[in-house]
Amino acid sequence: MAIVAPSILSADFCRLGEEINAVEKAGAEWLHIDVMDGHFVPNITIGPLVVASIRKATRLTLDVHLMIENADDYVQEFAKAGADIITVHQEAGAHLDRTIALIKSLGKKAGVSINPATGVETLRHVIRNIDLALIMSVNPGFGGQSFIRHSLEKAQELKKMIAVSGSKALVEMDGGVGPDNCGEIVSAGVDVLVAGTAVFKSQNYDEAIRKLKSPR
Ligand code: DX5
Ligand code: ZN
Repeated sequence: MAIVAPSILSADFCRLGEEINAVEKAGAEWLHIDVMDGHFVPNITIGPLVVASIRKATRLTLDVHLMIENADDYVQEFAKAGADIITVHQEAGAHLDRTIALIKSLGKKAGVSINPATGVETLRHVIRNIDLALIMSVNPGFGGQSFIRHSLEKAQELKKMIAVSGSKALVEMDGGVGPDNCGEIVSAGVDVLVAGTAVFKSQNYDEAIRKLKSPR
């Protein structure tokens, strides 16, 4: 059964604490927090200050997705704010190996995300050092987009790379995930499902999360 990580990007930010409690009660294990800087992606969201408030409000694993440039300058602040997993983009910085080492030196789990046009092979030389490999199944920046189908092949390719390398990394799918495609996504070997719209825009969070956990 996949881990479900609701993405707060689609939550009602006027009631963020209530929204987080609701998905925690509904069976979510992780909370996916999308950080955007308006440079790496054409949108701006939240920073360490909000993560620190969220940390006080929940025991969920905080899965922080940094869609920002110069991530090295902010990793420490997100670690201090209470992130459990800090994921950076393969495409966003020049020294990924050093960034991963920095995240782990702070006692946090390290993740790397690849955009739809970025190949799985770009993770070959870091796959053994990371705890999470995030496949972007939409172009980053917004919730509510459609699932990009070739992400399924990327997941299969990534699972093979993980098996061959002896890596312990989990595979996370992020973008356009919902009850209609979570079955094939999990069959492709994905361990963690990020779902923003499918959860926070649903009428019933319990049902939405149950459908993601037990795909048809
Ligand atoms: C997009 C974010 C995703 C997004 C997922 O840049 O990284 O986490 O919030 O939202 P949905 O599930 O609505 O596609
Ligand atoms: Zn995300």
